[in-house]
Amino acid sequence: MPKEMNLFTSIKLGDIELHNRMVMAPLTRNRAGDGNVPQDMNVKYYEQRASAGLIITEASQISPQGVGYPATPGIHSSEQIEGWKRVTDAVHKQGGCIVLQLWHVGRISHPSLQPEGRLPVAPSAIKPDGEAVTYEGMKPFETPRALELAEIPGIIEQYRLAAKNARQAGFDGVEIHAANGYLLDQFLRDGSNKRTDAYGGSLENRARLLMEVTQAVVDVWGGGAVGVRISPLNPFNSMSDSDPQKTFDYVAEQLNQFDLAYLHVVEIAMEGAAEVPDFDFTQLRKSFNASYIANGGYTRERAESALASGGADLVAFGVLFLSNPDLPERFAKNLSLNEPDVSTFYGGSETGYTDYPFYH
Ligand code: PHB
Repeated sequence: MPKEMNLFTSIKLGDIELHNRMVMAPLTRNRAGDGNVPQDMNVKYYEQRASAGLIITEASQISPQGVGYPATPGIHSSEQIEGWKRVTDAVHKQGGCIVLQLWHVGRISHPSLQPEGRLPVAPSAIKPDGEAVTYEGMKPFETPRALELAEIPGIIEQYRLAAKNARQAGFDGVEIHAANGYLLDQFLRDGSNKRTDAYGGSLENRARLLMEVTQAVVDVWGGGAVGVRISPLNPFNSMSDSDPQKTFDYVAEQLNQFDLAYLHVVEIAMEGAAEVPDFDFTQLRKSFNASYIANGGYTRERAESALASGGADLVAFGVLFLSNPDLPERFAKNLSLNEPDVSTFYGGSETGYTDYPFYH
């Protein structure tokens, strides 16, 4: 490790050469066009942020069944592949790197978003608290349908096809979304997985789907272009686990078999949780052999100290990249930052999306 290692030191992340260690975190913005196809303003938004060492796209559904929100992009139709191709071309022209986040929401959906109005699927028929975001406004979640054992290969196939589509769309790699209470996380944590077959019960069984999905995606891309995102403490989407340290240390260790590019860890609880269990992220980091991307409310100062202490190899910034397209330059030159406007985070037009000013 170079002595002067900081946010602006280059790094080889698996097969991907990055010119700095500032990662743009995946951010749901609900601005895809008809058919959940990336459109002009999405091209501009990502192009503006190409000075990030790595852009991780917003979560993008791998299949019509994987959809959980209005106007989130997909990677399962030819129009979506074409739309993303315009995004990756624009980012590459600016010298940037971009990976696609592969998403299946599982139970965090609603029949009105599902093909033929079907029930969302999950490891177990357990309804999350709260409401789904639909095209007709907020609606209470419904009890999902537990996936049959015979349906699991089809889920893995959805990931494999989406990974192939992402290659066709010109991405530098893919990130498997196993965080924040979506399908793969629903299998990992025991609050949402009560299965009694090979995909539930023991830790090995709960992690099985993630490992099989990772194998399928690695078969398409090679491990060096694949990352996995986890969120051991995040209660968002009614998630809980009886022993997060044991669960996620195991997950990190098991993922070592794939020689992945990175593990991306949401280290905070997104919702103001009353009590967050003790968790040793240093131990998690030690369990994993490749690069570690830390995420969760990092400031420049905290990021630099995480890199200096070995707490992380890279840091992902969400809101800061959302509101500052030129964040690396601003950090490098100690320039002031734009204020984010929360009211335009989700959905809408170019306002609050592509109109945050560059410093220069
Ligand atoms: C959201 O739309 O609220 C959302 C999507 C993906 C995440 C987290 C939150 O990983």
